[in-house]
Amino acid sequence: MTDLGSYETAYDKFDWQLARKELGYEDGSPLNIGYYCTDRNCERGLGDTVALIWEDSSGDVRRYTFNDLRIHSNAYASLLADLKIASGERVCIFMDRVPDLYFSFLGILKLGAIAVPLFSAFGEDSLLTRMENSGAAAIFTTRKHVKKVRKIRDRLPQLKHIVVVDGDGMALKEREHAFNVETAPKVESFDVYPATADTPSVLHYTSGTTGQPKGALHVHGSIFQQHLTTKWVLDLKPGDVYWCTADPGWVTGTSYGIIGPWSLGITQVVLEVGFFPARWYGAIENFGVTVWYSAPTAIRLLMREGEATVKKFDLSSLRHICSVGEPLNPEAVIWSEKVYGLPFHDTWWQTETGSIMISNFPGMKIKPGSMGKPFPGVTAAVLGPDYNPVLEPGKAGVLALKPPWPSMFRTYWNNPSTYEAKFKNGWYITGDRARIDKEGYFWFVGRDDDVINTGGHLVSPFEVESALLEHEAVAESAAIGKPDPVNMEVVKAFVALKPGHEPSHDLELNIINFIRKHLSPLAMPQEIEFVKSLPKTRSGKIMRRLLRAQETGEEIGDISTLEDD
Ligand code: WT7
Repeated sequence: MTDLGSYETAYDKFDWQLARKELGYEDGSPLNIGYYCTDRNCERGLGDTVALIWEDSSGDVRRYTFNDLRIHSNAYASLLADLKIASGERVCIFMDRVPDLYFSFLGILKLGAIAVPLFSAFGEDSLLTRMENSGAAAIFTTRKHVKKVRKIRDRLPQLKHIVVVDGDGMALKEREHAFNVETAPKVESFDVYPATADTPSVLHYTSGTTGQPKGALHVHGSIFQQHLTTKWVLDLKPGDVYWCTADPGWVTGTSYGIIGPWSLGITQVVLEVGFFPARWYGAIENFGVTVWYSAPTAIRLLMREGEATVKKFDLSSLRHICSVGEPLNPEAVIWSEKVYGLPFHDTWWQTETGSIMISNFPGMKIKPGSMGKPFPGVTAAVLGPDYNPVLEPGKAGVLALKPPWPSMFRTYWNNPSTYEAKFKNGWYITGDRARIDKEGYFWFVGRDDDVINTGGHLVSPFEVESALLEHEAVAESAAIGKPDPVNMEVVKAFVALKPGHEPSHDLELNIINFIRKHLSPLAMPQEIEFVKSLPKTRSGKIMRRLLRAQETGEEIGDISTLEDD
């Protein structure tokens, strides 16, 4: 581990203050992520260094330097100032992985407003719940996606501005603006908002078991941990070409697809296309990617694609590869070592943690299948039912973290009681189950709740069930995660129909499509099973766990323990 010597000695030398030193930050001075990712790099002489290599879906490539990032994020910040958006107001970003996403994200932060990234495949219901909950004052979007915003804008009285960033020449409605960062007047300098470590920065929505998605609120001080973990876990060094495959609609895409690497002045690759083996390997070869951060579902798909495709490309630039989002199968680690000559290093964290908390560090012995060990400065434990640490090695319990840590979320937006409920006996309860072996390695056991993890994305069963209820034929429903060899889980829905509707294949497709449109392709059930009624607890809660146990053929045991938890 670079500056800290070996992994073993890192713990003794570690102090979160190290990040302050590295960033040249002095307590009491302003701390704005937007500044640290752009202006500071220019001040350090990296103005002409390429910050972003962007390949569009047709394969054309554009490069932007840190100075371009600085100027374009200034343009976005001053546009917001012109629109009278104040610090602390929420500004959504709703677009594919295009350069404007990155410029606008940093511009929002420079103004001191709160960036709310929204995954561009969201349908109108997913969009509405998040925009309503956040009380967004403005949204940046593109021609391709503005239609969905138009469908719901009348239900969003707080939404003052809709900015279409490629909307030149488009017919605009009231509250809509066209903006073009390339032709907008250059903004050489912008008075960056003097945020502190506790000033809100990013609001990322994540899924829970009950209720609609919750907005995890992050602060500018998250950069301390994002910076250090990017350096010591992802191992980024000057001269690296780094590629994070995650979309900034999710926290990996902002913490490690924007903030961490750019706080280090590293060149990043962004592909507009989603998963596409030949394009992915082609990008590694063409851009000379050295460090790659991806997810188990993609890795399993690459394993399925096979070694023959790997052999067609020169991947010799790669030197370090990491994974996050779901359990990384031991076979994937062994396979990558065989075909790429490099093992995938698993990392564990969550939207709420803001940064990597447990990981396999470069140089540490990897136990394939293990998530690794806590990052120095992080205290992680496995708790028993009394919320005290389990002392016997190998015994499973609830994975918990000792607050605080720099990138910890500060609340769930407009939902303080749910936030409070995440803390027990002085621990933050993650919602996962894990065990710790004799050597201190952490092993993922499973989720401790009904949240569905499909391809590394969390889906709330409640959100799917609420959307299903909007369908004219659905009387009641339950959504569960069904085991899947590639995506780990896929959404399966059990549906009881209203009188007058009969189960049919057409109706199944119709309902599936309805959810795809209203929520997103991720939340879309892959399968619907029509049932007469659903199993419920005495108080009327649907017993999803019973349905899941039936699905997996697991022993369900004493179902009285399932009641009302
Ligand atoms: C949940 C958090 C921030 C990363 C992207 C997902 C699962 C995450 C691992 C891993 C097993 C993992 C957990 C966690 N998860 N990483 N290495 N091994 N499971 O962020 O959407 O907030 O999801 O993803 O269940 O709680 P998220």
